[in-house]
Amino acid sequence: MKTTGNTILITGGGTGIGLALAEQFLHAGNTVVICGRRLAFLQQAQQRLPQLHIRQADLTKPEERAALAQGLMRDFPALNMLVNNAGIQRECRVLKPGAAEEFLAENEIEPNLTAPIHLTLLLLPHLAQQAEAAVVNISSGLALVPVAIMPVYCATKAALHSFSIALRMQLAAIRVRVFEVLPPIVDTDLDKGARKARGQQVEALSPESVATATLQGLAADQYEIAVGKVKLLQKMVRLIPGKMLALMNKSIH
Ligand SMILES: NC(=O)c1ccc[n+]([C@@H]2O[C@H](COP(=O)([O-])OP(=O)(O)OC[C@H]3O[C@@H](n4cnc5c(N)ncnc54)[C@H](OP(=O)(O)O)[C@@H]3O)[C@@H](O)[C@H]2O)c1
Repeated sequence: MKTTGNTILITGGGTGIGLALAEQFLHAGNTVVICGRRLAFLQQAQQRLPQLHIRQADLTKPEERAALAQGLMRDFPALNMLVNNAGIQRECRVLKPGAAEEFLAENEIEPNLTAPIHLTLLLLPHLAQQAEAAVVNISSGLALVPVAIMPVYCATKAALHSFSIALRMQLAAIRVRVFEVLPPIVDTDLDKGARKARGQQVEALSPESVATATLQGLAADQYEIAVGKVKLLQKMVRLIPGKMLALMNKSIH
């Protein structure tokens, strides 16, 4: 996939991995639109990177996903890449009193899974008309092995992994390529300080290094871009799945 001259929507591009991707795609000569709920973060990003286009949208709302897609196809007819990056991560202690209510109040399924699937379906007819196009799904190493304290998050990422494989197969005959990026722990605000609160020792990668690996993977048509330690995890989980499950959960309670 070419990494220059594209017109790209990056969901959740106001912070973290999405913002690092936006910056590197801009520097590589692409037109980049980012979206998110918090206007202040989008505006801060635009102040730093004035060529960036911003759109405020809550991707848990189907009507906002539809309006975003319609507006982009109208304003950016050359749109040829969708990066499904927006996501949230929550602990879910299943035996905690009120766990069911907490799940209904906020959970990862809508932003992490329904939104990328819906946005993909909304934009695919448009992407399919471009000379070269791509859908890039940001999943996680946790798509391959779950950690027990985040059962819903891990389930959404495993589902996005599966969706990416099936989508790639359906689109093999046309010019829309489907990539999946599987980052390890990255230094962002995704967990809202939960790792620190658990006293979890983490070795986190920078969002910039995930973005660099993503652009390199796209350029090499590497459809599953395992980043950093996820490269080893991907191999080991095929050989010793039970041991990897135990290892991944050893120090996380
Ligand atoms: N950090 C890690 O360790 C790690 C590891 C593997 C995979 N990932 C994945 O990488 C992706 C990016 O996460 P990150 O680490 O960069 O964390 P982040 O900085 O918190 O980025 C998440 C982005 O998603 C946006 N977002 C969340 N809910 C949204 C909604 N309903 N509508 C629109 N935008 C929404 C957020 O913006 P608003 O809140 O303003 O909407 C934010 O900009 C996620 O899919 C995450 O699962 C992260």
